[in-house]
Amino acid sequence: MKITVFGGCGFIGSHLVDALLLQGHDIRVFDRSLELFRTPLVDVEYVIGDFGNRGLVSSAIKGSDIVFHLISTTVPKTSNDDPVFDVSSNIIETLYLLEACVKENVNKVVFISSGGTVYGAPARVPISENDQTDPICSYGISKLAIEKYLFLFNKLYGLNYTIVRPSNPYGPRQNPKNIQGAVSVFLGNALEQLPIIIWGDGSVSRDFLYIDDLVDGIVKATFAKSDYRVFNIGSGAGTSLNALVAMIREITRVDIDVSYKASRAFDVPELVLDTSRAQRELGWSHKTAMADGLRATWNALLENRQDQVN
Ligand SMILES: NC(=O)c1ccc[n+]([C@@H]2O[C@H](COP(=O)([O-])OP(=O)(O)OC[C@H]3O[C@@H](n4cnc5c(N)ncnc54)[C@H](O)[C@@H]3O)[C@@H](O)[C@H]2O)c1
Repeated sequence: MKITVFGGCGFIGSHLVDALLLQGHDIRVFDRSLELFRTPLVDVEYVIGDFGNRGLVSSAIKGSDIVFHLISTTVPKTSNDDPVFDVSSNIIETLYLLEACVKENVNKVVFISSGGTVYGAPARVPISENDQTDPICSYGISKLAIEKYLFLFNKLYGLNYTIVRPSNPYGPRQNPKNIQGAVSVFLGNALEQLPIIIWGDGSVSRDFLYIDDLVDGIVKATFAKSDYRVFNIGSGAGTSLNALVAMIREITRVDIDVSYKASRAFDVPELVLDTSRAQRELGWSHKTAMADGLRATWNALLENRQDQVN
C-alpha cells in the first residue's frame, strides 16, 4: 500500500516506518526535519516541511491509501504554557489534513493520540478506553478534540480512522535531550553523569512501554478487522519513578543522583492502561520485559555516543 507518515522522522514514527517497510509498503514521510539518529532511508520518500504548510500537506497525501498522523507541535508542559499555539498548530492544522484526506479519497487515517493525557487523573486503574476523559493539560484536550473530529469526519464524509492511545513509550532513538520521556531522559543523564530531576516524591507511576510493542500495536490496530476504533496500548503495569531510577542504576551501573522538585499540576498521579481490548480484538500483547527494554535503550545510547566519537 501507499502510506504517508506525518512525523515519520520522530521517535515513534521512525520505528513505525521500519515496521511498515518490512511489510513491503511504499512509504512517504512528511516531517519538518530528517531523523536525528539515522541517515535518510533509501526506500523512503521524504517531504520536508512544516505541518502548517497546507499546500505541501495536501500534496504529501496524494495517492495515499493510509495516512498516519504522528505530528504533535507540543508536549504536555509546553501546551499549557501556550494553549492558543497548541490548539492552532495541532487541532486547526489537523482539520486541514482531514479535509485533504477526504478530498484525496484516503482510505484510512491512523491517529496517535495519548493514553497518558486524554483520561486526566484516573478515577481507577487500569484505565479502559470507555473511562472518563478529563485531561489536565491542553495537549490532552487537543488530542481528544482531534479524536472527536475523526469521529465527526467519519459521520459526515465516511472517512475511515483508527486511534491509538499509547501509554509511556521508550526505546532507542527517543531523544534523551527532550523534556519528556522519563526513561530516555534519565538514561541520557546517567550517560552524562548528570543528576536526575524528579517532579514530586517519585511515587507517581507510569505505564512504560517498549517501542517495539507499541509499533506492533499500531500496525495491528491499522490492519486488523475490528468494530472498535480506539485502542489503548500499554504494558498493563505501573512503575514508580523511584523504581525506574533503581532499575536504571542497576543496568547502567551509574550511581546517579536524584534531585526532587515540587510536583507539577499537569502530571497525573498514576497511569496504567487496560489493554484487554487490544489483546482481544487485535491479537496484540505486551511482550518486552522492562529490564530488557531498558538494556536495549541504554545500549543504543552507548552506540550512538560511540558513533559521535568516531
Ligand atoms: N513519546 C511519548 O511519550 C508519546 C506518548 C503518547 C503519544 N505520543 C504521540 O505520538 C506522536 C509521536 O511522538 P514521538 O514521541 O515520536 O515524538 P517526536 O517528537 O519524536 O516526533 C514527532 C515528529 O513530528 C515532527 N513535527 C513536530 N512538529 C512539526 C511541524 N510543525 N511540522 C512538521 N513536523 C513536525 C518532529 O520533527 C518529529 O520528527 C506524537 O503525536 C505524540 O503526541 C507520544
